Amino acid sequence: MANDLLKGKKGIIFGALNENSIAWQVAERAHEEGAEFILTNAPIALRMGELNELAQKTNSDIVPADVTSIEDLENLFNKAEEKFGKIDFILHSIGMSINVRKKIHYTEANYEYYHKAMDISAISFHKVMKVAKQKDIMNEWGSILALSFIAAQLSIPGYNDMSDAKSLLESIARTFGYYYGVDKKVRINTISQSPTKTTAGGGIKGFNSLYDYADLNSPLGNAPALDCANYCIAMFSDLTKYVTMQNLFHDGGFSRTGVTDKMMHKLGFE
Ligand SMILES: NC(=O)c1ccc[n+]([C@@H]2O[C@H](COP(=O)([O-])OP(=O)(O)OC[C@H]3O[C@@H](n4cnc5c(N)ncnc54)[C@H](O)[C@@H]3O)[C@@H](O)[C@H]2O)c1
Repeated sequence: MANDLLKGKKGIIFGALNENSIAWQVAERAHEEGAEFILTNAPIALRMGELNELAQKTNSDIVPADVTSIEDLENLFNKAEEKFGKIDFILHSIGMSINVRKKIHYTEANYEYYHKAMDISAISFHKVMKVAKQKDIMNEWGSILALSFIAAQLSIPGYNDMSDAKSLLESIARTFGYYYGVDKKVRINTISQSPTKTTAGGGIKGFNSLYDYADLNSPLGNAPALDCANYCIAMFSDLTKYVTMQNLFHDGGFSRTGVTDKMMHKLGFE
């Protein structure tokens, strides 16, 4: 399914770890749609080497960057500028919480870990855009996206401090979106994706139950990663030029559903 929707567009894709990663699927689809881009991930994630396969397949360079490091981001954007001049899109597809990993209960949060989760999963989005804006690397009508989750709006047990990180992430999109829009006509949005079976997703306590619950309680069922990638492509394309500062639900209707018949039936209420 290639329509040249991103023909001539250049970008940076953060967060492809393995073929389950949402960012991996976005990179494959962006390549099919004619985009050129740099792939980036934390140096420690690159040690696994899986990203080389994606780089080869999409004819992309890999530039390591810890997204919390301004120095690494400056190096990354310098490399992007050398290669492309200006760019048109950025995908931030990054999340990590040590409190989640170590299964520390939300009410018992370790604050060092909490700060780290905010920095990696949310403040890093601000950092990426700050460096991009300072370098004036985005073309007008460029599009910047980050991936979010409905735990920013609804309490989801087990999502832990990532709920707070996603709320902050969505607020940064809105607030930075105002300034970048006024100054450079760059648009900034978050896509709030269904539970998806990836490395980050699998780290959430009770993830499989959450996945099944959301699937059952959505009129369309959970949105697969490939469809999320397709939505990202639409958002990077010129077909969505006036969409900015939004949190866009890509969740089969889950966020707007009280309860489905399927769920009532499952619960034995009929
Ligand atoms: N999987 C889900 O159920 C789901 C649902 C909604 C939103 N999301 C969001 O989608 C995004 C991508 O996650 P995914 O599910 O594809 O999982 P993933 O584990 O494949 O991707 C997470 C990425 O973050 C990267 N990362 C972590 N720390 C980093 C750092 N310091 N610097 C740079 N990169 C770093 C990891 O290396 C990895 O590539 C995340 O924001 C996640 O919260 C996931």
